[in-house]
Amino acid sequence: MSTLVTGIAELVTNDGEGEGGLGLRREAALVVDAGVVAWVGAAREAPAADRVVDLGGRAVLPAFVDSHAHLVFDGDRAAEFTARMTGQRYDGGGIATTMAATRAASDDTLRNLLAQRMREMRSQGTGTVEVKSGYGLTVEDEARALRLAREVTPETTFLGAHVVPPEARGDRTAYVELVTGPMLAACAPHARWIDVFCEPASPYAFTGDEARVVLEAGIAAGLRPRVHGNQLGHGPGVQLAVELGAASVDHCTFLSAADVDALAGSGTVATLLPGVEFSTRSPYPDARRLLDAGVTVALATDCNPGTCYSTSMPLVIALAVREMGMSPAEAVWSATAGGAQALQRSDIGHLTPGARADVCVLEAPSHAHLAYRPGVPLARLLDLGAEGGPTSDPTVAAPRS
Ligand code: NIG
Ligand code: FE
Repeated sequence: MSTLVTGIAELVTNDGEGEGGLGLRREAALVVDAGVVAWVGAAREAPAADRVVDLGGRAVLPAFVDSHAHLVFDGDRAAEFTARMTGQRYDGGGIATTMAATRAASDDTLRNLLAQRMREMRSQGTGTVEVKSGYGLTVEDEARALRLAREVTPETTFLGAHVVPPEARGDRTAYVELVTGPMLAACAPHARWIDVFCEPASPYAFTGDEARVVLEAGIAAGLRPRVHGNQLGHGPGVQLAVELGAASVDHCTFLSAADVDALAGSGTVATLLPGVEFSTRSPYPDARRLLDAGVTVALATDCNPGTCYSTSMPLVIALAVREMGMSPAEAVWSATAGGAQALQRSDIGHLTPGARADVCVLEAPSHAHLAYRPGVPLARLLDLGAEGGPTSDPTVAAPRS
């Protein structure tokens, strides 16, 4: 069953043309067939379809691609957040608090918490989410986190090298051997990606040498690399990510000129997570410097209980524009097409023929409102219902004959 989606005041196609590469079309329409975008163009030239959804002058963009999130966890760290708001610095030590609560939680508790966070994301226009392990840090608990994550997304990431857990701090080498041996073997079947918190500035995270060992083992096991790097200070994360051909290096707050050059000459995306700087009261990464150097930039939430407990891509866009010098067009591109590149996906992050019909609708006439109206729930996914079945979307109109 085909659906004509019309009444689109502004359509972001991300076809690479025009302002910020957004491929903007005004007074536009698109046809969706079997879950795929079949046609895009001017509303007045739209072909007939089995049914019509009239959006009444709203803006439409590709669903957000949140390429960095830690959603499998239990426990609360509001007290740690409160302490940071009065000046305490973040150093990664709180990860052990979440680890203890997550280990103690039942499968059903974790499944329900994960489902609730996914619902929050979807209700704000996010269509694809990457989900990391990293709060289990035993063979069984990491494999469990990835099994649960696989129930909700194909973009699962093994992060056994999040921190060295408290019981292993006496022997870091033994922990790296566990991560690259039995833990990797148990987790690889449930993961697409491998990640490491490469941060010599944190006593809990991993050095460049340790991170290399972890990533190379993951690559040998068939996983694709991505890196948490350069969040708390200058370090080797970016160079390592580029050298190993990582899809993305995430945070990128503290960058040398050589780091920026390396990123610009690579296929590695720099994923910026401004919700983290907001929630840790830290300096924001310099998005302008990266964009001006020609680096591909993605935006993601990093939703996690320690540094940013937010599921909101619209918030991230507003912060990127207000605090990191990105234009609304650049921020929207980075939250959609940029996220897709960070996940090496060509079927999402754009609305051109052949793309998945993951569509975000705004209660607004243009994408700029995402930054212009911060905190207002403008974004939602377009619900076209099951194939041929009813739809709960109130904007669906009867077919025009
Ligand atoms: O991406 N940097 C490492 N990991 C998370 C924080 C995890 C936590 O504090 O619980 C991040 O910021
Ligand atoms: Fe993270």
